[in-house]
Amino acid sequence: MRRHAEAEVRALEPGDVARVATIFRSAFNEMYRRRGFGPVVADTAVGAVIAEAYRALDPEHCLVVTAAGRVVGSGFLHVRGATAGVGPITIDPGYQGAGFGRALMEEICARSDRAGVRSLRLIQDAFNEASFCLYGRVGFVGRETLVRGSFRSRPQLGTAAPARRARPSDLDQVVGLERELLGIERRKDHELLLRMGDVLLSGDGTLHGSLGRLVRGGVAVLGPAVSRDLEAMLDLIDRATRDLPARTDIRLLVPARQGDLLAALYETGFEVHSLCTYMVRGDYTPFAGYYVPTLFPESG
Ligand SMILES: CC(C)(COP(=O)(O)OP(=O)(O)OC[C@H]1O[C@@H](n2cnc3c(N)ncnc32)[C@H](O)[C@@H]1OP(=O)(O)O)[C@@H](O)C(=O)NCCC(=O)NCCS
Repeated sequence: MRRHAEAEVRALEPGDVARVATIFRSAFNEMYRRRGFGPVVADTAVGAVIAEAYRALDPEHCLVVTAAGRVVGSGFLHVRGATAGVGPITIDPGYQGAGFGRALMEEICARSDRAGVRSLRLIQDAFNEASFCLYGRVGFVGRETLVRGSFRSRPQLGTAAPARRARPSDLDQVVGLERELLGIERRKDHELLLRMGDVLLSGDGTLHGSLGRLVRGGVAVLGPAVSRDLEAMLDLIDRATRDLPARTDIRLLVPARQGDLLAALYETGFEVHSLCTYMVRGDYTPFAGYYVPTLFPESG
């Protein structure tokens, strides 16, 4: 089908946010509904918060696609030097399957190439064959399977202290650890996490791991988290959840090949909801250590 003849891609403007947020909600809820799931985006505030947060970080790479001037979808590119992330990508359900997603992704890839990105990454729901095919058509290859799941926090009886919260002065070390283990350098994403949530640290003196955490209304989303070894990752997850109210819904993505991390999580009641694919366009060196990626911020 290729790109729709009427599709035009332009930068997102402040006046587009309400429409983008409405499309975000209906596109994801409709995609999940078609596969027998309940709605995943409760209200339009979610899409608006994401669009505003990304506009503050990368205004020139927040894009909308239009049909005869009407906004019918949006997409976000997060350039971080030689690597970049993409997402979320949403097209109005009434305009899907007509080449608008293709037009948007082609423009995102072109902008990424112009910015000198050598490794462009995204996360898609593995059950979503349309997005998998669309991304494959523009050069993305599946590199990792991710397990998407959650567990409930339980009151902790142990004596371990909560994890140390990073301060701005700790970010050099966090950025350095991610550069070393993941090949991604993204200071501004950690600054965003410090503003909107927490970055928790493991290790005294030498950093062994870091973990981003966003807590909203009974839900805690973990990631990005990175560590040198399994022990540090488990310690971070344990300490990042012990100060939460009992039965908080703790959500995270775990690479399927980290079998020992998954085995330890199953012991805490980790329940798997679905699988995702980590797709890369261009260079890819598998990450070292342990990694819990995230869908916010979507910079890899
Ligand atoms: C995924 C989504 C962005 C795709 O946008 P879209 O405008 O419907 O996609 P397009 O019509 O431009 O392109 C889809 C491509 O995948 C192909 N495709 C779709 N389903 C396919 C299948 N089962 N097998 C083979 N190819 C398939 C189409 O043929 C088309 O390829 P072409 O351009 O070479 O013809 C859109 O459906 C959406 O918003 N979904 C809900 C939210 C979502 O899932 N976002 C992605 C999050 S990772």
